[in-house]
Amino acid sequence: MIGLGMIFDETYRPVLEQLRQTGLFRRDFGLVEVSLAAVATRTGRRAERLKQTGCLSDFQSFIEPGSCDQLVESGVDVVCVATPDDRHFDAARLALQAGKHVLIEKPSVLRLQELDELVRLADERQLLAKVVYHKLADPDHKRLRTLVRDGVLRHVNHGYCSLLEPKSISTQQFAEWIQGRNPATYVAVHYLKLIDFTFGPEWSLARVSATGQRGLVGPVDGRTWDSVQTQVVYRYPDGREAAFDIHTSWVTPDNFPGYVEQEVQFRFDNGMWNAHQRKRGVEVTVEGRTPNEMKSTPNHHYNALVEEPWGERRQRGYGLEVIQRFFEEVAYVEFGGPSTERAKRFRAMSSLEYNDLRSDRRVVAMVQALEAILARQADGEPGSQVVVNDPQGGLVLRIPGRSESTILYAGRV
Ligand SMILES: NC(=O)c1ccc[n+]([C@@H]2O[C@H](COP(=O)([O-])OP(=O)(O)OC[C@H]3O[C@@H](n4cnc5c(N)ncnc54)[C@H](O)[C@@H]3O)[C@@H](O)[C@H]2O)c1
Repeated sequence: MIGLGMIFDETYRPVLEQLRQTGLFRRDFGLVEVSLAAVATRTGRRAERLKQTGCLSDFQSFIEPGSCDQLVESGVDVVCVATPDDRHFDAARLALQAGKHVLIEKPSVLRLQELDELVRLADERQLLAKVVYHKLADPDHKRLRTLVRDGVLRHVNHGYCSLLEPKSISTQQFAEWIQGRNPATYVAVHYLKLIDFTFGPEWSLARVSATGQRGLVGPVDGRTWDSVQTQVVYRYPDGREAAFDIHTSWVTPDNFPGYVEQEVQFRFDNGMWNAHQRKRGVEVTVEGRTPNEMKSTPNHHYNALVEEPWGERRQRGYGLEVIQRFFEEVAYVEFGGPSTERAKRFRAMSSLEYNDLRSDRRVVAMVQALEAILARQADGEPGSQVVVNDPQGGLVLRIPGRSESTILYAGRV
């Protein structure tokens, strides 16, 4: 495990604790042991705390500098990368070079050049290289995709999604790495992937634009963004277009009852799909505890500690399922039949579009585009746009008032 931050605590830790107790079992691959063998973190403090507080104590801990090199050489089989988003690539590359299967937190990487390199290494060594987008496992989103695939909802035309994080995220949890970063790369990717996976694959990405606000997390003329609005436009084979606006922020007041405010609206030729996180489920108040220590509008489908009717206590939800599923995919490749058929099993698992890096091209392209647009804006040139698969290149940045373009990525997206 590389990185032991918030997402490790919420999802990896409970999955690893449960797998340690139960093992991982399926008829095709039998019983497979999954244990936390080693962790790499910046300072080692969280690793110490983990050793003292949980049942996961029997692991090696490596710290910076060189923590990832030492971890991949320490005899692990699989590496999960949950470091800040601009530190995913180096860690994942080291792991693949050392022959380890890799799972990376979203967004997988920030540039298509990095994605190409990881996919090349994974192909060369026949390793799984995957990314976590847990929203694809949300029952509501699975149902949405099912209706689209069955032709019940036809031809999405436009949509709006928002994901607004509390200020404590930017000012406390992420204070170490937030300088120069933006909330769209951090959370718009959830919806960019949902849109791309749910309504694709026959369309192509056409254009990306973005703007945002500064002045709270960092200086008003700096490179750290409070909130970002991104628009992506897709083109169908018949020439019709679909546009999606995604609003993100990490400066919502901490006492806002939504905690993480999330909404989607999609309009089709023949229908509408509107979903709001705070309006779909539970609203709870506990004096002195909500909305800060406990959330007022929790999403128990994502992640919840529950006492099962049969007495067992466990943390469960699609945020955990999606990580366990990755271990099942690795177990299937390595143990799901004779070694002579490993290549076939590998092809089957690496062609799963929901999590394979090979299928993350358009999302990484959108991230690369929006980061380049925001960087231009920070340099005093707002309003640029990235055109996709133009004759000049795969990602072409056009700046208003300038005749020359910048090629961000030459190959096709
Ligand atoms: N799926 C989700 O909903 C979700 C939610 C939150 C975060 N994430 C993703 O998880 C990743 C981590 O986010 P977080 O919220 O856990 O962050 P965090 O700031 O809470 O934790 C980051 C961790 O990375 C470690 N780290 C930092 N630099 C390192 C380095 N160079 N080498 C080794 N370890 C290093 C730190 O020690 C820390 O343990 C991000 O990519 C983020 O986008 C996903």
